Amino acid sequence: MYSHDVLVLGAGLAGMRAALEAAKTGANVAMLSKVYPVRSHSNAAQGGINAALTDRGDDWTDHAYDTVKGSDFLGDQDAIEVMCREAGQELINLEHMGVIFNRDEEGHLGTRAFGGQRKARTFFVADITGQAILHVMFEQILKYNVRVYDEWYATTLIMDGNRCGGVVAMEMRTGDIHAIQAKATILATGGSGRVFEPSTNALICSGDGMSLAYRAGAPLMDMEMVQYHPTTLKGSGVLLTEGARGEGAYLINTKGERFMEKYAPNMMELASRDVVSRAETIEINEGNDIDGCVLLDCRHLGTAKIMERLSYIHEISLDLVGVDITKDPVPIRPGVHYQMGGIKTDIDGRCWDPNGAWKGVEGLFAAGETACVSVHGGNRLGANSLLDTVIFGRRSAIGAMDYASQNSHLNFSENDWVNGEKAKLQGFLDNDASGDLVAKLRMDMAVAMDKGLGVYRTEDGMQEALQAVQGMRERFKKVVVQDKGKSFNTNLIFALELGCMLDCAETIAIGGIERKESRGAHSRTDYDKRDDENWMKHILLRQGDGGEVTKEYMPIVVTQWQPEERKY
Ligand code: FUM
Repeated sequence: MYSHDVLVLGAGLAGMRAALEAAKTGANVAMLSKVYPVRSHSNAAQGGINAALTDRGDDWTDHAYDTVKGSDFLGDQDAIEVMCREAGQELINLEHMGVIFNRDEEGHLGTRAFGGQRKARTFFVADITGQAILHVMFEQILKYNVRVYDEWYATTLIMDGNRCGGVVAMEMRTGDIHAIQAKATILATGGSGRVFEPSTNALICSGDGMSLAYRAGAPLMDMEMVQYHPTTLKGSGVLLTEGARGEGAYLINTKGERFMEKYAPNMMELASRDVVSRAETIEINEGNDIDGCVLLDCRHLGTAKIMERLSYIHEISLDLVGVDITKDPVPIRPGVHYQMGGIKTDIDGRCWDPNGAWKGVEGLFAAGETACVSVHGGNRLGANSLLDTVIFGRRSAIGAMDYASQNSHLNFSENDWVNGEKAKLQGFLDNDASGDLVAKLRMDMAVAMDKGLGVYRTEDGMQEALQAVQGMRERFKKVVVQDKGKSFNTNLIFALELGCMLDCAETIAIGGIERKESRGAHSRTDYDKRDDENWMKHILLRQGDGGEVTKEYMPIVVTQWQPEERKY
């Protein structure tokens, strides 16, 4: 049987940063990913990574305050303090690994402004920051000889009681099923953006890690907090970076007005994402739109700046909607971008509380978008996600190494786990042709979620989406997998991913219905105010023994910033 001290699932930035930290100690570490590592979705992060550097006159506490305010006071302030305090050193680590960050005229690392922040503290590589970091990190993974199971898909966590001992996974090339034993397992599988359509997320963002942990008994926290990014391209929903507005681009409506003046007179286009997305939605609903879109206007930035700093979105706009952003404004609309909620973890990535204050899964760690530490609360600041991946990727590896040094492998029967999983997969292959195709069911789910849990939400709309998703769970049991083969059976993988997405969709809708207030990205027209008296708390959802969803609550950790009115 394959056996490791630490097994990392996912090979985006959180996963690679975790694997690298563990590998540096000489531990037996492996990384498993359903795609080749450099195809992970961190690749798509464009605008940059935040850090407050003291020698630039910045201060991590200012970054922390902006993050707390951005989160609409739902973020846990102890975790936010950790992230912002460690950001500067981690940025320098990345630079020393070889990331070629943009430099200013004096040769120092350069910054650009990003939304919801009072200082320009976003370090960047043109508009391909995620891609640049991902490739450098993969070089490190190769340098440290980390074993990579690439194009393997994890189907279940191996559990004994509430302890995790590794995973069962399919080698996609052969279709063979294997058990992989690990003393500690780190989930770094990214987000669940494809639960919605349209979305900026790659098709691989199907909430796999959240679902694996949830099915194993870990709670999912604040799942209702789904971020709509203000500038996603008409039609496809592809991301056009906030870095454009950071460089000075305007948002205009059909009347040519910079409408953000009405909604956020101080920060204008650089208000936090939830605020800008709501403003755009109002403009669109009031008819100040073109085909359901408002416009991102970059023309005044000039061709030279656009080609130096925004060449990727220039190319995307030209290729996908035929607009040359040096010459014309480009149509955009809010689109699903990020899941602030996820698997509840502590600041060392643990998915359980060693002191027993909350119950989770021992031996399991999580980092990055799949986790909820919670540093983003109700609304993530742009460029805090790359930061989250590297800070909590590294910390989860340290936590996992510590756990692995004190615990031995679980004893289990490899055959039992492998055969049990094979039987489940065969069940899908044996479904007759009368059910839904995977693609149809996925699209029905994603459209229902976009309709019911969009930028603005109501009780009725969310209930309708929940009922639709619960109906789809029944339809999913009969889903048709037409490909009966073994090698690269992507039809079967898509079906398994859909199962994960349905877990995420259901918990997003239940969380949304439960939170009877408006906070951050969760904006209800029927409860249109933030309610600090009753809702300064996280919602934790857990799968009960009969598959039912149970609810728990945890207080928000407040260290130094009391909730206050949030204006930009
Ligand atoms: O707009 C962007 O470049 C996205 C960055 C982020 O989500 O952090």
